[in-house]
Amino acid sequence: MNFNFDKIIDRSNNFSAKWSEMNKIFGTNTLLPMWVADMDFLTAPCIMDALKDRLEQGIFGYTTRPYSYNESIVNWLDNRFSWKIKQEWLMFSPAVITSISLLIQNLTQKNDKIMIQEPVYSPFHSIVESNERDLVISPLVKLDDGSYVMDYEDIEAKIKDVKIFILCNPHNPVGRVWTREELTRLGEICLKHNVLVISDEIHSDIILKNHKHTPFASISKEIEENTITCMAPTKTFNLAGLQSSFLVIPNPSHYEVMDKAFSRLDIKRNNAFSLVATEAAYNYGEDWLDELLKYIEDNIDFAIEYIKTNIPQLKVKKPEGTYLLWVDFNNLNVDEKDLKNALISKGRVALSDGSSFGIGGDGYYRINLACPRSMVLECLKRIEFAINSL
Ligand SMILES: Cc1ncc(COP(=O)(O)O)c(C=O)c1O
Repeated sequence: MNFNFDKIIDRSNNFSAKWSEMNKIFGTNTLLPMWVADMDFLTAPCIMDALKDRLEQGIFGYTTRPYSYNESIVNWLDNRFSWKIKQEWLMFSPAVITSISLLIQNLTQKNDKIMIQEPVYSPFHSIVESNERDLVISPLVKLDDGSYVMDYEDIEAKIKDVKIFILCNPHNPVGRVWTREELTRLGEICLKHNVLVISDEIHSDIILKNHKHTPFASISKEIEENTITCMAPTKTFNLAGLQSSFLVIPNPSHYEVMDKAFSRLDIKRNNAFSLVATEAAYNYGEDWLDELLKYIEDNIDFAIEYIKTNIPQLKVKKPEGTYLLWVDFNNLNVDEKDLKNALISKGRVALSDGSSFGIGGDGYYRINLACPRSMVLECLKRIEFAINSL
């Protein structure tokens, strides 16, 4: 190991949402934070070096994106996913949810139908509603072995008149890395019904052993034209506070609409730090990422083993991607409020409540395992203690 992921980093002065905004949801900031999806690891040294160099320049005027910035993204997508894109398909955006909201605003009308699959990252739901579009939900189906699949019959039954399908690929919170076959079937349904796909692939770099990320747009030429992909280095390299993401828009008419939308808001330039951090990450961050993935996978295996041995009432299936563990607490057969209170007041641990992910989330909690192993152990002990107190 060249990088020390065991090291505990004090984030009390880090102005961190994960550590300092717990009071908004849990009523206190003194819990162990295992909720917001950012990592308690230092980012890659190559990124820190690039940022230090940029800081040393001491001038932070308006930026322009060099050719090398776009090239670093194009090469990353080719190296990691064998996805060959053109530089002119790339568009900068500060954040993925900003992109999805702007896509909805500019490619649909009020009360148009937008389909999502729940349980899913909750802004998918809220961003459709806050833009006054009609939400159509196709719940994922949970199989007996604890894994999730798409319900194609349900999608087909509900997709008439839907304008946009928002896909979470890989999926937060259930941890599926959708296979090429699964995505192809979905893509064909969307083509048949003329439904544009927004594929949120922010978790595409966090893929565990024996799984492979397939960019939705890479499946076929027709699907490529019918897909807008949202990606970012922010989950992968822990850079969310720098606000750097991008869209891949192969269809020129969609590109033109979105280019105008970003121009109208004057959101066209990276900040000086996101620019160099993104390029450094994609050019030099691969070794760090490969070690990170091993560490995360070991954390996940460790947590699953701990749960099986010490809290067997909980049910959990190993995710295929993401650093998030989706845990079923329903077997406890306790009142949801009592459980929530026990986790906060006895366990002193902040977990993401499954019900916030929509249909299918009740009785589940999502645990963020992108932290030093000692924190994972502490979290599990606290959950165990909270459950035993019920
Ligand atoms: C699926 C998914 N999309 C988007 C985001 C947020 O991305 P951004 O901060 O770029 O809006 C998250 C964060 O957890 C996520 O899990």
